[in-house]
Order: sequence, then C-alpha cells, then structure tokens
Amino acid sequence: MFEYRHLRRLLFTLEPERAHAVALAALVCAGRFRPLQRNIRKRCAAADSRLEQKLLGVDFANPVGLAAGFDKNGIALQGLASLGFGFLEAGTVTPEPQAGNKKPRVFRYLEQESLQNALGFNNDGLTAMQRRLSDSRPPGLPLGINIGKDRTTGLEAAPRDYAALLSGLSGLCDYFVINVSSPNTPGLRELQSRRMLAELITTGRELVRQPILVKLAPDLELGEALNLCRAAVAAGAAGLVLTNTTTDYDLLPGARPQGGLSGRVLRERSFEMLEAVAAELFGKCVLISVGGIDSPAEVYRRLRAGASLVQIYTGLIFRGPGLVRELNRGLLDLLDRDGVGSVEEIIGAGCHRPGPGTQEVARTEEQERGGPTP
Ligand code: FNR
Repeated sequence: MFEYRHLRRLLFTLEPERAHAVALAALVCAGRFRPLQRNIRKRCAAADSRLEQKLLGVDFANPVGLAAGFDKNGIALQGLASLGFGFLEAGTVTPEPQAGNKKPRVFRYLEQESLQNALGFNNDGLTAMQRRLSDSRPPGLPLGINIGKDRTTGLEAAPRDYAALLSGLSGLCDYFVINVSSPNTPGLRELQSRRMLAELITTGRELVRQPILVKLAPDLELGEALNLCRAAVAAGAAGLVLTNTTTDYDLLPGARPQGGLSGRVLRERSFEMLEAVAAELFGKCVLISVGGIDSPAEVYRRLRAGASLVQIYTGLIFRGPGLVRELNRGLLDLLDRDGVGSVEEIIGAGCHRPGPGTQEVARTEEQERGGPTP
C-alpha cells in the first residue's frame, strides 16, 4: 500500500473542500477504469467469512462502512466500493439541489485528528441522485441513502420532503436513513421529537419496502435520546445510526462556534450514546455506530457494545483509504486473539443493562434476522 502520509501532506496544503473534491475525482477515475479498480480492490479487500453478516435483509461482507456526507451525490460509489468497505451510505440528499452555507465551512484540526463542518446539505438534489444510482450502483455492495429536508422547508412540511425522497429513491438502495441530526440546516434537529419521528417512519414504511433507520445527534441528553430511539423503533425503524457530528464546542479548544465536530473529539460521546441505547434496544433493531472510529480496537469496542456495523468519515481523511483494510484486518486479529469464530459472536457481547447485577445480553433471534423490517 502506498504511503498515505505523503499524499496527505499534499492534500492538506489545499483548502479542505478542495482536497475533498480532488479525492472524490480520483475515486471517480478509479471507478471508471476496471483494471485500476480491480487492482485497488485486490490491495484493499479483507475478504473473510468471519466478517460476514446478514442484516437488514442484505449480505454485508464486513462491518466497516462509509458514513454519510463523504459522497453526498453518489458520484464515486464505484471507486469507493474498491476500497474494501462492507457498505456505503450516500447523501445526505435533499429534494432540491442546494448550494449549502457560505464558505469556508470545513476546518481541519490536525493535532486532534478532528474536523468541523458547517456545509448545510450542499448536494445536487433528488433528480440527480436518481439518475446516478440508476446508472451506476456498485453491484453486490449494500447501499444506504441518507435523506434530509430542504433548507427552506418548515417543520410541519418536512414530512412531505422525506416522503418525496423515499418514493423517488425507492428501489435504488438497500436501506434509508432519515437524517434529523445535522446541525447545519435550520430547524432540522427539531425533528428529533417523538411525534415527528413516529410520523416520518410510519409514513415512510407505507412508501418503501426498504428498512428505514434514523440518525441522531450526540448532543441529546441520554434519557431524551433513549426516548426518541424507543419511539423510532416502536414506529417501525429497523435501526439507529449513532451519531452525527456534535455542537459541543467545549470538546475542542479553539473550535469555531459553527457547524459540527467529528473525529477523535467525538469518540467518547458517540460511544456513550451507543452504550446507553444498546442497553435497552440491542436485539430490537440494528445499531450502526459512527463517530471517531479510527482503529481496530475501537471497532471491536463498538461491536462488543452492541453495534452490528460501524461507519467512518474523519478517520479516512486523517489516515487515508488504507484505514478500511486496517480496520478489517485488525478486527480479524482481535477475533483470533480472543479465540472468537466470527464477528457475529462478539456483537453485543459486552452490552449490559444497568441496574443490580449487570447482565450480559444474548443475541436475540430478531437481531439474527437483522431487526424488524417493514
Ligand atoms: C458529515 N456527516 C454527515 N452526516 C450526515 O448524516 N449527512 C451528511 O451530509 C454529512 N455530511 C458530513 C460532512 C462532513 C465534512 C463531515 C466531517 C461529516 C457526519 C458523518 O456522517 C458522521 O456521522 C460524523 O462525521 C462522525 O463520524 P466520524 O467523522 O467521526 O468518523
């Protein structure tokens, strides 16, 4: 594998959004040339049956996925597929194309290996996403689409936006994520109410056959987060994605008072929320953990805490594309170390309910099936 640190030095001389555009362009190229794609895949893949799972009605070759926001428009999915991910999540896509907030709106914090973004759902909109996914969806790789409301759509009209996105993209992905947690679209996080979530999910399930998941913010108080998760699952959500970026700027001295923080500074907050939610909902839905994951040990910790899958974004920026392979290979080493036969055996193994006599929670049949699906 090439030394990413040399490329990184070059990329980091560019303004973050420009560097991202360069990386995406390279991935688009890699996806267009089959021999190149095959070559990269050979170097990056960590094919091993011990990493496989069937969840949400589809087969996952490994538990490491790409988080939303990296490929907002689904332009580089073929190239991304060759990096060895177990699944990809495109978006956030909104009904209309949007330019997003004023630049500069993405900042790097090198020492803390963290990012801050205030992008505001800049994306090409529903029609463009429909066209791209119809033309070029990587075969055999589970794909999620993360959906959000337009900036100008008010709270009460928001369900219409989500309904339009679900109907318009139905059949083009394996699962949907209702995003109510990005900090950069006015009013979006107010959709994190039990009533709203129940309405969005109930309506959504009538519109599409794919499982619907919900992505939440790490800034919710834990009790409130748990109430929302319960309501989402009761309404038929097949899973929860925990978490989006944080607006707790105290986590990073020198942070700007805008947008959301991701990467290492988010790690513990994201873990705490997973742990709290898993204590009650493990086995009742699929949990996807995201936030500050950049080592095999951290993947292992999230899986043991109850996540069936993990996602990465900021780690990729600081560690490079080789991180996907490193996480999967390292995970296999940890399974060997602990004498565990497959990744499925460790998921939820360290998940415990609070209260007298901490109790290990076994995988339920529902978890084996991938949680409730519509
Ligand atoms: C994001 N994230 C994000 N999430 C989402 O649901 N929709 C989006 O459009 C975006 N956009 C986005 C842009 C940028 C530049 C970053 C850094 C992040 C959040 C992302 O999916 C993830 O939840 C967090 O970044 C936490 O994971 P990491 O980055 O710490 O691995």
